[in-house]
Amino acid sequence: MSSSQSNGSSAPKGLTKDNINPAVLEVSYAVRGELALKADKYAHQLADGEGSDLPFDRVVTANIGNPQQKGLDQRPITFWRQVISLLEYPALMEEHIELAKKMYPEDAIARAKSLHEEIGSVGAYTHSKGILGIRKRIAKYIEERDGYAADPESIFLTAGASAGVSLLMGVALQKGDGVMIPIPQYPLYTATLAYLSATPLPYYLDESGGWSMSLDSLKKTISDARGSNTPTKALVIINPGNPTGGCLAEDSMRDVVQLCYDEGILLMADEVYQANIFEPESKPFVSFKKVVRSMSKEVAEGTQLVSFHSISKGTSGECGRRGGYFELTNMREEVVEQIYKMASIMLCPPVTGQVGVDLLVAPPKKGDPSYELWHTETSTTLANLKSRSQLMSDRFNALPGMSCQPADGAMYLFPQIEMPQRALDEAKKRGKQPDVMYTLDLLDATGICAVAGSGFGQAPDSYHIRVTALCPGTEEYIGKIEQFHKDFMSKYQ
Ligand SMILES: Cc1ncc(COP(=O)(O)O)c(C=O)c1O
Repeated sequence: MSSSQSNGSSAPKGLTKDNINPAVLEVSYAVRGELALKADKYAHQLADGEGSDLPFDRVVTANIGNPQQKGLDQRPITFWRQVISLLEYPALMEEHIELAKKMYPEDAIARAKSLHEEIGSVGAYTHSKGILGIRKRIAKYIEERDGYAADPESIFLTAGASAGVSLLMGVALQKGDGVMIPIPQYPLYTATLAYLSATPLPYYLDESGGWSMSLDSLKKTISDARGSNTPTKALVIINPGNPTGGCLAEDSMRDVVQLCYDEGILLMADEVYQANIFEPESKPFVSFKKVVRSMSKEVAEGTQLVSFHSISKGTSGECGRRGGYFELTNMREEVVEQIYKMASIMLCPPVTGQVGVDLLVAPPKKGDPSYELWHTETSTTLANLKSRSQLMSDRFNALPGMSCQPADGAMYLFPQIEMPQRALDEAKKRGKQPDVMYTLDLLDATGICAVAGSGFGQAPDSYHIRVTALCPGTEEYIGKIEQFHKDFMSKYQ
């Protein structure tokens, strides 16, 4: 009992904001912040028939890469849902098999049967690293992707990439450790570092160079950290990038790997967008695992790497199912054991999330009954994403006071806004960051929910918004942004 309770003072009993873990108060997460809450409020108002005074009739959620969300409505891949539904209700593979044969293609039934034999009920805990058979198929997928062997024992299935990042950082970092993060970055990283009382060491991506990485900027970050006695423990790279959409060239990846090897830094490669690539011929995705393994023997075997993947992105977009994995490369066994111990405390990742990963890494093959439909569904999703992204960047670039690097992949655009001085003054008056003011005004005027660049970090005195390329009806949606932007610029010019 605290002294304030025992001495009868009027201090509140139990948890208060002042007595919970202070690190929690340091955490911020822009993607689901003030703006998203306001957008939710508008959406509820409209759903309850109370939005007649609003200047829009629907809220467009362009703030989060959640493709199957209501309103974005990306259709789930049929084969996935067929297999998972059979696993959820195995009676369809037993006493109701005749019915199932009428409803499901034969390869979906065969796949579900073999998974059922391997897993048993999807309601049971599994191995804490995830189901071994699935880890073996992930290893095969990695080997086929990279041309280098992968070990199922170095692969951990997770409840999405976020859970993997959080587990890994929780194990790897001591209070005060420095972690290099890109600016702009996906706020999971700053949020997790704040929670762990570790220190973000920002390095800037080069916007005019298509959001590329510069070795000099990385080295400067390391030497600045040294100057302030912060040990640089890890380097986070998001490739393809969120929010930038940039895809790294292999040469610069090699430089990064060499640097990590030289400095003894853990490389954390967030590769959740590896399948969202728009120009696979000219700008392919190359994994950091492949780059590490392709270097000299000492670097290939001495660079510590953890690579994250997820079922939330790609063409599956199964964000709510919570599935993903990470692969450890060159990690000492003594550390793997500790990671395993910590994973065990959480028991296991969601089982149908693990099945999702299985379907991601081992989709129907050419010639299988489900192949054609699977191929049409996935290629349509990717083609839609690419065409929306291109259309949006072209139109943004045609606007006065807006410039936008076209994306090589991922699901977002991160256009820059040249804020007129009077807009900066107005934002100051309102006590808001200028880009936050822009996104709030955009929401109020159009119902479009974007995220302010300040939530991701941006170069000083530059202002951006992040919008997803996931919204159907792109023409109408861009038209609204264009109109709002022109009005905003002429209001403050
Ligand atoms: C770069 C990046 N990493 C990780 C995640 C989280 O993915 P998951 O749903 O697998 O936790 C996201 C989600 O948007 C992301 O953009």
